Amino acid sequence: MGIKSLEDLLAEGVSGRGVLVRSDLNVPLDEDGSITDPGRITASVPTLKALSDAGAKVVVAAHLGRPKGEPDPRFSLAPVAAALGEKLGRHVQLAGDVVGSDALARAEGLTDGDVLLLENIRFDARETSKDDAERAGLARALVELVGDDGAFVSDGFGVVHRKQASVYDVAGLLPHYAGTLVATEIKVLEQLTDAGEKPYAVVLGGSKVSDKLAVIESLATKADSLVIGGGMCFTFLAAQGLSVGGSLLEESMIDTCRKLLDTYGDVLHLPVDIVVAEKFAADSPAETVSADQIPDGKMGLDVGPESVKRFSALLSNARTIFWNGPMGVFEFPAFAAGTKGVAEAIIAATGKGAFSVVGGGDSAAAVRQLGLPDDGFSHISTGGGASLEYLEGKDLPGIDVLN
Ligand code: 3PG
Repeated sequence: MGIKSLEDLLAEGVSGRGVLVRSDLNVPLDEDGSITDPGRITASVPTLKALSDAGAKVVVAAHLGRPKGEPDPRFSLAPVAAALGEKLGRHVQLAGDVVGSDALARAEGLTDGDVLLLENIRFDARETSKDDAERAGLARALVELVGDDGAFVSDGFGVVHRKQASVYDVAGLLPHYAGTLVATEIKVLEQLTDAGEKPYAVVLGGSKVSDKLAVIESLATKADSLVIGGGMCFTFLAAQGLSVGGSLLEESMIDTCRKLLDTYGDVLHLPVDIVVAEKFAADSPAETVSADQIPDGKMGLDVGPESVKRFSALLSNARTIFWNGPMGVFEFPAFAAGTKGVAEAIIAATGKGAFSVVGGGDSAAAVRQLGLPDDGFSHISTGGGASLEYLEGKDLPGIDVLN
């Protein structure tokens, strides 16, 4: 790989130099604006700390949510700046704007080792613009913050699938390097493409088949078993001719699911029992039924215990495991057993030496919310869409540009 690393940059020397870092600090917040899962902040610390410790003047660009290209206090990075400061063990300044007069003044005032976080980069509409010239304009403004002898470190793995100014365009204007998070994520995901040990088991959940179609098609040719749970399993069950009651269903994908089952029937594994309820509510009484007995007027909200048993048996033999997407509505305790059971089976397999990767924001959040140990898995990826696109074999603009 021809990508320069953070170590290369540190060896070149960063003391007193401005270094722009793109991090993915897009963490979930609750209604009060408190961070519910700081995983991505924690994962961003090593690169930022190494640069700060080496005396760089660190300017961090990051996004939170999907604001509409203008300042919106609901998407301010203020809670993130505070949490990042705590984890770094040093004060992190938050600029009041993205590349405006406040950011510029603060950047000019940085001393060696200081860390400045710019306000949500997506408050500037040029960040996500489809117009190359517009994005280039923002990229030039970012370069101004670190000066002509500055450098760019790409460390926001979760956004490398986005062709955006702070991810892609800026790399064309400054000497560029992959941060430790990006380097680690790529190394790990490479093992899931070709290099991994067999048997290879994949567990996919989440609500929509249409979101996962490309990755199912790609992984079904590589994996020895591919378990399907979560809301999307109902479209597969419907494709088998079963009635799914009021469960989530993507009618337009039924034919596609039927074809997938015809082609990869020996690899794909569907649940055999389902936990159903009348309503999508935490207190709606739960009942377990066979997958071919989902009553009208009830909806499936989790995979059942017999399914967990079968999925666990597949996972117990695996040497390589990739998991993306919860098996059910794990946020409601009555419908969390499927996700928890599968996660525990992956942890057990990891304990016996399997290499396991959790990919995707929801599955990573499930691990933490269900009180499972982070270190029970070989790696928890910070990339949702990015890790899926990597495994689909798509080009990731934010990685390509570093080459
Ligand atoms: C993510 O949450 O997957 C990343 O932060 C990318 O966010 P986006 O899907 O809004 O580009």
